Amino acid sequence: ARLAVLASGRGTNLEALMEAFPPGNPLGEVVLVVSDNPEALALERAKRRGVEAVALPWRGRRAFEGEALDLLEARRVDLVLLAGFLRLLSPRFVEPWYGRLLNIHPSLLPDFPGLRVHQRVLEAGEKETGSTVHFVDQGMDTGPILLQGRVPVLPGDTPEVLEARVLRLEHRLYPRAVRLLLLGLAFPPPEGLEGLLGEE
Ligand code: GRF
Repeated sequence: ARLAVLASGRGTNLEALMEAFPPGNPLGEVVLVVSDNPEALALERAKRRGVEAVALPWRGRRAFEGEALDLLEARRVDLVLLAGFLRLLSPRFVEPWYGRLLNIHPSLLPDFPGLRVHQRVLEAGEKETGSTVHFVDQGMDTGPILLQGRVPVLPGDTPEVLEARVLRLEHRLYPRAVRLLLLGLAFPPPEGLEGLLGEE
């Protein structure tokens, strides 16, 4: 399968995905990295590995989604992976890709969607946190869950320390979730699509 990754920043999850799905890998290979941020380290990481890296500087959702959709089609992409991609995608993008579009979020969803997750987890006094790979629907961090992993919250943790622990988990979790999907061992629930299309 041909994989594309959308990333806005640092790209450590992208790195883990490119490591797990290198060029020529029979199960899946990362063939394209797209960023809304031309300065993203993610683009550098892709170039270093000889993977096509495309910056589509943000000029509004319509323009970005149109160009990204065209590019995915032109490169015959099968699966799109959001990895630290900070924009919300509209139904125009999500609908045709539903079931073949994943995101990773650094909490045990449905708890703690959105930003500044680790700080909020610490403030809430949680004893455990983790990461979630989910199918993307029209909401923010709301789609059906594919796979979760857990790590402890330890006494004295700062947001930075907790983030590092969760990131190490994510680097194993995301490739594992993608493998399950590619092997046909995980399925997007059809309810996700119905929710997307709205109640009649
Ligand atoms: C990860 O924690 C991911 O779960 C969240 O954003 C962070 C991205 O980190 N969506 P990186 O850019 O992959 O290093």
